[in-house]
Amino acid sequence: MTLVASPGRDYTGAGHVRPVRVEGNAMSALASDRRLGEAPAGRPAQARPFLKWAGGKGQLLEELSSRLPARFGRYFEPFVGGGALYFALHGAGRLRAGAGLSDANGKLIDTYRAVRDDVEAVIAHLSAFSNDRDLYYQVRAWRHEDLDPPRAAARIIFLNKTCYNGLFRENSRGEFNVPFGRYVRPTICDAPNLRAVATALRRVSLRQQDFGNVPDRVKPGDLVYFDPPYHPRSATSSFTQYSENGFGEDEQRRLARVVRELDARGAYVMLSNSDTPFIRKLYAGLVIDEVLAGRAINSKAARRGKVTELIVRNYGAAAPRRSRTARQGGSRAGRS
Ligand SMILES: C[S@@+](CC[C@H](N)C(=O)[O-])C[C@H]1O[C@@H](n2cnc3c(N)ncnc32)[C@H](O)[C@@H]1O
Repeated sequence: MTLVASPGRDYTGAGHVRPVRVEGNAMSALASDRRLGEAPAGRPAQARPFLKWAGGKGQLLEELSSRLPARFGRYFEPFVGGGALYFALHGAGRLRAGAGLSDANGKLIDTYRAVRDDVEAVIAHLSAFSNDRDLYYQVRAWRHEDLDPPRAAARIIFLNKTCYNGLFRENSRGEFNVPFGRYVRPTICDAPNLRAVATALRRVSLRQQDFGNVPDRVKPGDLVYFDPPYHPRSATSSFTQYSENGFGEDEQRRLARVVRELDARGAYVMLSNSDTPFIRKLYAGLVIDEVLAGRAINSKAARRGKVTELIVRNYGAAAPRRSRTARQGGSRAGRS
């Protein structure tokens, strides 16, 4: 693979350098980075993710934002989940050219649509719920397909806020099967945030679709951020069942082909995944940064530690501001 600059691209860094290891306390070093920023005075409250989602990117936001191209066209996020990066970019005013969010999980996309299109009805339904075990199992038994969109969305949000660990898990019949959680006083209806989310989604295209359909819509200069279910670091950490479908190594390979296709079309591509030899090999030739994730890797508190994750890009490797970096190797990666 040989990487070359293509028309319409804006490379932020000093060419393609791989890999960059972010050392020291990169997260706190970047905590003062204001690129994502807070909403300027006079703007409505910044929307935050309204669902807890496995693999949510809250902890990696600064690392991701410091690696965005300086300018890009539209923004696409094909594994949107809770949409942490989308909402941060929206709050920072970086999505003026438009955005497309998608996910294979149809109930998730239905929920986004209902919040965008009829937020007051979603709030009204949600306000009627409370953190009650019997009510939880009653609402869990409702069928998503039988409900009107705002009620179906309120059900998903209610289950998400009150279920065990905020997991989204369904059985083979597509029935939500997570038990009641142990939260003392969960915020079930955060009306101001839901209204801010509705505003943030106003002109956004929302689709239930497989990530493989995304390239058709992407033009040169657009940015696509992929946050797929992670490749398991070991056989025991294989929580890859996000939806009704698993996401095995064949899917990771298929995704890597989509990334190469978008690269060939002149789009900017950024992807996060776990730091495994398999993922490094899949994206060899692109810019690969190791970053520290705040995630615990061992259930025994005393042995908890930070693990590295990978951020892969097909464009210049700007070193994160104010963090110490040690570049390993200095060759220019290329595109063929
Ligand atoms: C790691 S989560 C995304 C987390 C998200 N970035 C966040 O901040 O909350 C992965 C998402 O991929 C979706 N997914 C799984 N297989 C998919 C596929 N083939 N195409 C599109 N989305 C898929 C899951 O439904 C899940 O929402």
